[in-house]
Amino acid sequence: MNNKIEEMKMINSEKKKHQSNINFKFMLFFFKIRDKLKAPMIKIEKTNIKPGDTVLDYGCGPGDFTVAAAEVVGSSGKVYAVDINLLAIKRVKKSALKKGLNNIETILTDCNIGLGDNSIDVVICFDTIHHVNDQESLLREFHRVLKPNSNLSLDDYHMEEDEIISKITEQGIFELADKKEKLYLFTKR
Ligand SMILES: C[S@@+](CC[C@H](N)C(=O)[O-])C[C@H]1O[C@@H](n2cnc3c(N)ncnc32)[C@H](O)[C@@H]1O
Repeated sequence: MNNKIEEMKMINSEKKKHQSNINFKFMLFFFKIRDKLKAPMIKIEKTNIKPGDTVLDYGCGPGDFTVAAAEVVGSSGKVYAVDINLLAIKRVKKSALKKGLNNIETILTDCNIGLGDNSIDVVICFDTIHHVNDQESLLREFHRVLKPNSNLSLDDYHMEEDEIISKITEQGIFELADKKEKLYLFTKR
């Protein structure tokens, strides 16, 4: 009986892995087209990331924005690329190597970022917050790692503007500082 349950669990986990790999490949294909239509650097320029900054890219996916941010921060800065999906992490590592960028560090995790308090100049979180189950905890984690008065730059094409603004500001730890088209800049309070 126990063996049968274990076998079923393994089959289900393999099925989930397979589905997640298919989803990732689809995302890669879709993002290739997106980035051709609009270069990732255009959005990164709106986040006010500067040379020398330490940036956290949460839900980095294949890393198109990680790479653009790493180019802006340069050799005196750093970008932490965080994702729950190992395929994304592998992809970011491959892109960093190909572009000769050694200022990118990858972190495979779900919400527990594990970086020091007040260590980050800018958090970017693009099209990811809708995926996260415990959004309140994640926002508290962003608040913890950000330096005082620093910005969380966030967009999400799966959420309405009202929903995004109320979700990020409802705990009283971020306030809306600016809006650039569909990108929202929130300052740590
Ligand atoms: C739609 S993609 C966006 C990727 C990238 N930010 C971009 O805009 O190109 C969302 C990413 O969030 C990641 N993700 C989903 N839930 C997550 C979680 N709880 N913690 C970290 N990453 C997560 C997914 O694996 C996926 O790579």
